Amino acid sequence: MSLFPFGKNTAVLGVDIGTSSIKIVEVTKKGEKTVVTNYGWVELPAKDKRQSIAEEVYQPDHIKRNLEALLSTMKPSTKSAATALPGLSSLVTLIELPKMSEQEINEAIPFEAQKYIPTSLDEVALSWEIIGKRESGADEGMMSGEKTQVLMVAAPKKEVERFEKIFDGLSIDVHSIEVETISLVHALVGNDTGQFIVIDIGARATSILLVENGTIKISRNIDVGGREISSTIADNMNISWDRAESLKKSEKNILSSRETAISLPSIVMTIAEVQRVSSAGMNEKRKEDMQVILSGGTARMVGLREYIETETGIKTIIGNPWARLHYEEKIAPYVEAIGPAFSVAIGLALKGVKDMEKK
Ligand SMILES: Nc1ncnc2c1ncn2[C@@H]1O[C@H](COP(=O)(O)OP(=O)(O)OP(=O)(O)O)[C@@H](O)[C@H]1O
Ligand SMILES: [Mg+2]
Repeated sequence: MSLFPFGKNTAVLGVDIGTSSIKIVEVTKKGEKTVVTNYGWVELPAKDKRQSIAEEVYQPDHIKRNLEALLSTMKPSTKSAATALPGLSSLVTLIELPKMSEQEINEAIPFEAQKYIPTSLDEVALSWEIIGKRESGADEGMMSGEKTQVLMVAAPKKEVERFEKIFDGLSIDVHSIEVETISLVHALVGNDTGQFIVIDIGARATSILLVENGTIKISRNIDVGGREISSTIADNMNISWDRAESLKKSEKNILSSRETAISLPSIVMTIAEVQRVSSAGMNEKRKEDMQVILSGGTARMVGLREYIETETGIKTIIGNPWARLHYEEKIAPYVEAIGPAFSVAIGLALKGVKDMEKK
């Protein structure tokens, strides 16, 4: 028997506004099961692929038109939606505070935030969540005693407004805006225990997260991604960007094939960052106990999983965000093909369902 007897409002949409495409998944709670009832995506064609990123992504009207078109083909059964800000424009950080009340934490957070944020706090939207407690050792001297671990999330108000503008006047209602990194964890780790390094490589950016027992311990975002990989291939092989993009998506292993092995600075940077993050996590765990979960559209690049596994020495898998959902057999080949590009959208939908259950 369900403790949450839903009325008609049992479905929720996860909407991921990526740089290269908008992805939407609709899930519906049916008894104990969370079922995929609709999904879709629309590519966001850049006018000039090498155009400066700032110009392109900060055009809400362009995104809005595409989102509207996608919604009108999908015809979702619900208006209720959740979306996320890019990890690159946000800050997600774990802080430790002495034992204090929620009211005191509220007051302490702006002071803590100021340590990480160079701009005025007036320009920043802040939120936080208590995620655990830690008993610190006597060797921490004055600082010993019980610590409250708080996950602090900050994003520029300008970025939140850009999102509000995209969704303003559309046929759906956004009830929650979170940060992509949080959605990734919901989709790829959930309540799984152990230590994971989640790497999401999109078109513009890469997120690298150290996740321990479902909680983000470290979050890094770098502004390199699949688009830059295509630019490197185009330059090295002296071919157009579009040809490089299709070559990258082909069955050919560009990373290890003899005639075309190309060094990809963006992947080298990503691996260096993974190494930094994994050594920071190593106080608690050994490399053998960790696992890398690869996500984002670029996770599908032939040979990349093996390359990352060899370079980092950490077991690497391609994440399957669909695994936490139920879906009809007939769509299985399609969702498996899209696979890890839907992590953020699915994480948002899963969280949306949880929020609905709380109400
Ligand atoms: N089969 C494939 N092989 C290699 N790369 C691929 C493949 N399919 C998609 N990609 C790349 O994945 C990237 C898109 O991934 P994704 O949809 O996760 O990005 P995004 O969410 O739009 O961007 P971002 O998160 O950076 O804003 C593109 O660079 C695309 O070229
Ligand atoms: Mg993305």
